[in-house]
Amino acid sequence: MKTFSSLALFFALAASLSAQPSAATFNTTTKIFRLDGDNVTYAFGVNPRGELQQMYWGGRVAATDSFPKTHPMREAASFDSSYTTTPQEYAGWGAGLFVEPALKVTFADGNRDLVLHYESHKEVEHGFDVVLKDIQRQVFVTLHYRIDAESGILARSATIENREQAPVTIEQAAAASWALPASHYTLNYLTGRWAGEWRLTQEALHPGARVIESRRGTTGHQANPWFAIQAGDSNEEHGEVWFGALAWSGSWRISVEQDQLDEVRVTGGFNPFDFGYVLAPNQSLETPVFYGGYSENGLGGASRILHNFELKNVLPRNRSDAPTPKPRPVIYNSWEATEFNVTEAGQVALAERAAALGIDRFVMDDGWFGQRKDDHAGLGDWYVNKEKFPQGLKPLIDKVRQLGMDFGLWVEPEMVNPDSDLYRAHPDWVLNFPGRPRSEQRNQLVLNLARPDVRDYVLGFLDKLLNDNEIAFLKWDYNRNWSEPGWDQLPAAEQKKVYVEFTRNLYVILAELRKRHPKVEIESCSGGGGRVDLGILKYTDEVWPSDNTDPFDRLSQQDGFTYAYTPQVMMAWVTDSPHDINKRSNSLVYAMLSSMQGSLGIGSNIVKWNDQDMATAKRLIASYHQVQPTIVQGDLYRLISPRDGSEFSATQTVNHDKTQSVVFAFIHSTQLGRGFPLLKLEGLNPDSNYALTPIEGKAKTGTPAVASGAWWMNHGLEMDEGFRGDFLGAAFKLDKKQD
Ligand code: GLA
Repeated sequence: MKTFSSLALFFALAASLSAQPSAATFNTTTKIFRLDGDNVTYAFGVNPRGELQQMYWGGRVAATDSFPKTHPMREAASFDSSYTTTPQEYAGWGAGLFVEPALKVTFADGNRDLVLHYESHKEVEHGFDVVLKDIQRQVFVTLHYRIDAESGILARSATIENREQAPVTIEQAAAASWALPASHYTLNYLTGRWAGEWRLTQEALHPGARVIESRRGTTGHQANPWFAIQAGDSNEEHGEVWFGALAWSGSWRISVEQDQLDEVRVTGGFNPFDFGYVLAPNQSLETPVFYGGYSENGLGGASRILHNFELKNVLPRNRSDAPTPKPRPVIYNSWEATEFNVTEAGQVALAERAAALGIDRFVMDDGWFGQRKDDHAGLGDWYVNKEKFPQGLKPLIDKVRQLGMDFGLWVEPEMVNPDSDLYRAHPDWVLNFPGRPRSEQRNQLVLNLARPDVRDYVLGFLDKLLNDNEIAFLKWDYNRNWSEPGWDQLPAAEQKKVYVEFTRNLYVILAELRKRHPKVEIESCSGGGGRVDLGILKYTDEVWPSDNTDPFDRLSQQDGFTYAYTPQVMMAWVTDSPHDINKRSNSLVYAMLSSMQGSLGIGSNIVKWNDQDMATAKRLIASYHQVQPTIVQGDLYRLISPRDGSEFSATQTVNHDKTQSVVFAFIHSTQLGRGFPLLKLEGLNPDSNYALTPIEGKAKTGTPAVASGAWWMNHGLEMDEGFRGDFLGAAFKLDKKQD
């Protein structure tokens, strides 16, 4: 892995040198702001009325090209004012605005009219800070724009400041609005539910608004804060795509609206539902960041840009000089093997088997603390259960480390069971409306992390846990959504601040823990993939995409996941068959190959595995270790989608220097004797020669052992004739031969 880091550093430097430089310019004559990065140009201007008007977002134009002065859009009869038809960078709700506002406020005197005009701007590194102000009142909004030179991804957010003498209540605050001209578009977004996350939903945009959101206090399984809009003729590898991802792990909303002139506006930020943030005089509110990018290579190109951006600019790195985080250790996790029934002897037995497989990290899941026998008790009491671990965690951790693995532990810090010492001591610490019922889900309540004392308690016990034990990794879980989100310590008008302060405190705790324990890594889990977004990924190294570990379901879940998130963070365990979720049986090889498309883990009851299972898993873990950097950090091509009942699926990844590529092929269920489709590979260097080595399965008899990149891309890779049946997988690697 050391070799990989230095190689990766070299290629990242080479890539950043070859990328077109970024530029942020302001033309004082035309009053146009322009941001250029990689293949992208973004432009907006101050129109004659003083509004900040969107101009252009798309492929990079020449530095010598200049945008004409901006002109507000026309009024569409007397029913649609020019204020509503003009696409603004950040429109206040006021004047005649009927489309989604970026900002809506109520002043102390009841006035709710807010019209934001350009006031000033400052050039900063890689972008601008542009200040808007209400036409009369002292409400200032600073719009932050930063463009990434390597990807062309723009990071946008806003700071809203009250310089009035009296409080102002913010009822709606977006991070940014994006606009596209009238055309035919397809919207892509991710939907799901517990154990069914990451369904790519695609639909034509029509007049009206499509709202994707979470009102749950957290990101949610049901929708994910990511979107991609394809131009009419775009597909997986061709055509224009505009995409965005919101970095926020609280309630959020993205509204994609086609207005009365067929123009498209995408506005996203805090969810305005039940929102109310009171700004006292001189206070300000910072919105989350809304990232936006553009690709001319279809949805595949969009996700490759986003993956690289996440690796280089979002995810934490334990070494600040490394260009990307290191690939994830291959883990073993005890959950599906033992559930709550963890004991020292049982975990040691699993750890011994895990070490024999070549596992890097052993993770003990739920059940080790308080009076935790099942999900009825214990959350909140983060002391070691003495019946299960009479000498504490030390003997187990020592054993795991002696076996050559590091140790990880499950926690669910923001929750409490009413049957716990913590709740008995602090019943007022939970989200609730006093005197009203407190709805339990999974027999638990949500601690009000917005409260400073709760924040300090959570930080304190986690810090102590990490100080007292040799823990390399925390699986940070979150197993319910909010209900009755009251914060009764604050005056009535201020209680809705909980939507902002809870999530901010979560980030504060994570940042502080990472500072105090820089070697500790963290996974974001929320009953599977309920908290995956670019906000939490700034503080966590990986995520648990789903509690559904059925390897066939995972193919389509992983496919959906990779539209928005890099395979580096996509943990994928192999678990026992038949899996409870579908009662379907599958081979171990099939499950291994499915999981090897992401960051591999094992979650089976390996004590029960026979010698053949052990040998199969050991062999494939060893193969995986060799190609993991290419799989999780390379450029991903989704060659055949597993969606919509597809008979087949295939993916390919190519590392950035194009010296290695890995191909996975899966058969769901062969029908009518059909052979596996020819795989025309992508992204190789046409003039280099690549040697094909099977990881699992065979290529068609007569397939050359070595052929040019041009051969693999134009002629393609053919599977063995015998590759037919149900739930089968194959994998190959291609290594560049020395020139
Ligand atoms: C959640 C997680 C699982 C497991 C259990 C433990 O459901 O997603 O992986 O950790 O909690 O209770």
